Amino acid sequence: VVDIPPADRLLGFSAVSKSLADTVLVPAGYTASVLYALGDPLTATTPAYRNDGTDTDMENRAGDHHDGMEFFPLSSTGSASTTANDRGLLAMNHEATTDEKLSSFFVHANGGTMSLPRPAAEVDKEMALHGLSVVEVRLNGGKWAYLKDSGFNRRVHQQTDVELSGPVRGNALVVTRYSTGGTKIRGTLNNCGTGKTPWNTYLSGEENWAGYFTRAATDDAARGDKSVVSLKRYGRDQGASSRHGWETGGRDDKYQRWNISKTGASSDGSDDYRNEMNGMGYIVEMDAYDKTRPIKKRTALGRYAHESAAFGKVVAGQPLAVYMGDDSRNEYIFKYVSNAVWTAADATPADRIATGDKYLDSGKLYVAKFAADGTGQWIELSIANPLIAAYAGYKFADQADVLVNARLAGDAVGATRMDRPEWCSVHPITGEVYFSLTNNSNRRAEPSGSSQAAPDAANPRAYTDMKGTSTQQGNVNGHIIRVREGAAGAAATGFTWDVYLFGAEAGAAAASVNLSGLSADQDFSSPDGLAFSTATGICWIQTDDGAYTDVTNCMMLAGVPGQVGDGRKLTLNYPRANGTTLSVDTYVGKAATPDTLKRFLVGPVGSEITGIAETPDGKALFVNIQHPGETTASSNVGDPARYTSQWPSNAGYGAGKRPRSATIVITKNDGGRIGT
Ligand code: FEO
Ligand code: CA
Ligand code: CA
Ligand code: CA
Repeated sequence: VVDIPPADRLLGFSAVSKSLADTVLVPAGYTASVLYALGDPLTATTPAYRNDGTDTDMENRAGDHHDGMEFFPLSSTGSASTTANDRGLLAMNHEATTDEKLSSFFVHANGGTMSLPRPAAEVDKEMALHGLSVVEVRLNGGKWAYLKDSGFNRRVHQQTDVELSGPVRGNALVVTRYSTGGTKIRGTLNNCGTGKTPWNTYLSGEENWAGYFTRAATDDAARGDKSVVSLKRYGRDQGASSRHGWETGGRDDKYQRWNISKTGASSDGSDDYRNEMNGMGYIVEMDAYDKTRPIKKRTALGRYAHESAAFGKVVAGQPLAVYMGDDSRNEYIFKYVSNAVWTAADATPADRIATGDKYLDSGKLYVAKFAADGTGQWIELSIANPLIAAYAGYKFADQADVLVNARLAGDAVGATRMDRPEWCSVHPITGEVYFSLTNNSNRRAEPSGSSQAAPDAANPRAYTDMKGTSTQQGNVNGHIIRVREGAAGAAATGFTWDVYLFGAEAGAAAASVNLSGLSADQDFSSPDGLAFSTATGICWIQTDDGAYTDVTNCMMLAGVPGQVGDGRKLTLNYPRANGTTLSVDTYVGKAATPDTLKRFLVGPVGSEITGIAETPDGKALFVNIQHPGETTASSNVGDPARYTSQWPSNAGYGAGKRPRSATIVITKNDGGRIGT
């Protein structure tokens, strides 16, 4: 266990300036090196990545769009460890691919097929690039490298068997042609944020999976049941087309399953894929150390657009709390509380997946309701709650139905609609829970239609035309909210909260937009990845922005936060068309200072900074650079001069000039902890 240094010994580096350069910038005294990129081989016999669109065998290579990531230390003998600093496994999410008009153009020779039907070979490649990977990394002679021939290396993709575990397992809602008992599903999809369990396993959140499925234009009538309500609530209206057209790859079941209408198109006639989408949308648990153990979707934590999963402070004899967000405009924040209470011996169990069964398959799911007075409530999503049992909008059959349709259950109890909850993380000292709320174009002072919401205390910004344009509306720059649990800790049903930071441009109006007083060394927009270091206590904040990218590429900042209630109450006023004023009270933490918030990294052009992991001593920091160059037009795929980014080839890594998502490792030149 590393002692966290006092706050006055943190952030001793010079802030990195905002930048539009096609490179990774870190402070003087630090080194960032590319470690593991899209297509890198994961077996001894897989050829090097040519990076010209002709590569094959994607099941044995790094996937695309590196996202959330965790580090699993390995002892010198190759056993699971919690303390090793020179050898370990990186487990990570491969969320998506860089696409335009159906095709993932950078991974196909001529940009791929931009119309339907998609060729099977292209679909196979794209399905293989989505999922998870595990890769061994080692520190040798002061340099980190990944091992292409490690026996630990692993890929999980859309053809990998994954078990359904917990209350939804075996329910009629997840019976498919593939699993008539409703016990398993193929693959895990659009994996975004991550988490690490107190028993040393990997958690992965399935986020924008709904977009991969298609529905026929007349499917509502064909179904004629309440599943239509569920599908609409999760973003699949009838007639919705799929992101890549994978369902057109052929008559084989592995393609047809992406069409969740009853189509009659499969090769053997048993073509009912109507429940396929109910198998996506969960927190997934994997034992990174042991590829013989099943991967499990932990259905007790609910089904929605998952990001990270953060454990509250672990206390012997108390239940475990897991905090989670649903990243879509105006969706909810959730907490799962285990029925089992924590036993210290479970920190290093003989069977890690069985330990997951113990803590993650049986518990209560809550949704957050924030009040205007700075307090809030966790409302249990139980079929026994009359608001849920008698909900007019959807007739829940049982608790499994509540979990599969957690969004509808949140609607039933009147949960607070948030500004896109992305990652969450728990402060290692105070135990307070931080949630990034990335932005929300549907937060309006005068909402119109059910998709828009008025500002409230917890989501108080709804300014328009911040830059004098008509394209930026709502909460353009996002904020980070934090929650302090009541005296019952993990099991508390009441909390207090405030806003840790409001994203803003340094020059924006201090009274209405730049509410945290950000200066040029620390201004940011659209917080997304967020994780506390357990070695330094630094709150790392990563951005996925579109609003400030005319001035700077996406970035990572280091924060040293105070705690809930250390700031002030403020009132925001919005003039309405009828001449009246809408006043919203909220609470913001201490204003940022150069000692408490500093920009640490700026990424290459078109990239999002996401995913962060560290060695236990905090001296190596792994960060993912996702989709550099995604702003490239697919028609320019043959002309490297017209790529908006050539990273990481311009950093000396790998063949070809096509941009690649990649993991970097950051070390301090004096060997110290990162961010000190
Ligand atoms: Fe995959 Fe919500 O970011
Ligand atoms: Ca994210
Ligand atoms: Ca995002
Ligand atoms: Ca992204």
